[in-house]
Amino acid sequence: MGLNINTLFTPVPEFLLGVVDEKQLPTSGFPEIAFAGRSNVGKSSLINAVTGVKGLARVSSTPGRTQQLNFFGVGDKFNLVDLPGYGYAKAPKAMVDNWTDLILRYLKGRAQLKRVFLLIDSRHGIKPVDENVMQVLDTAAVLYQLVLTKTDKISGAELEKILADTRQKSTQHTACFPEILATSSEKKQGLDTLKKAIIQTLEVF
Ligand code: GTP
Ligand code: MG
Repeated sequence: MGLNINTLFTPVPEFLLGVVDEKQLPTSGFPEIAFAGRSNVGKSSLINAVTGVKGLARVSSTPGRTQQLNFFGVGDKFNLVDLPGYGYAKAPKAMVDNWTDLILRYLKGRAQLKRVFLLIDSRHGIKPVDENVMQVLDTAAVLYQLVLTKTDKISGAELEKILADTRQKSTQHTACFPEILATSSEKKQGLDTLKKAIIQTLEVF
């Protein structure tokens, strides 16, 4: 496709649709790259930061902000998908079950899903609920890559430690990429590396 990091998000990404039911999933067949992770981990912020489009995905300090699968189109090249966060304890149970079900169905059953970026808060590392999702992805053979978020909130030494820790845990997971990315949407760090990972994903297939 001849993609490079300067033109990856040209034309400017646009919101396409929000999906609350499997039946509404786009049928266009464009490759998809999804951002998944616990509630409040920084998925929507990272989509805005990496695309350079402020306000593209809705960010909030209230956990559970993204309540649908939001699709953003980058011309006719590919779509980014902002998934609802999982593991948010305070949401009503029926709602949680409904989202979790939809997220898992999407993750397991989507032919054009090229890679999942699974976001992990660099202050907290992989939690049991993340392990569960990783196991689901392993079982379904959906390739995913771990991305540490909010690295501006920790020191360089802490980052090294959590990177080593996360790398170690990732080796137990068959569908997980060995390279762990480190990002800060706030400080715009790690974004070029993330773009390169997206390009690699789109070009391999
Ligand atoms: P849900 O949609 O609720 O699952 O959340 P999300 O994962 O999309 O997180 P969102 O991007 O909405 O960010 C949650 C909070 O974390 C907001 O207050 C953001 O401003 C903050 N945040 C996100 N990324 C960063 C970062 O890199 N650094 C810092 N310091 N804060 C961040
Ligand atoms: Mg969000």
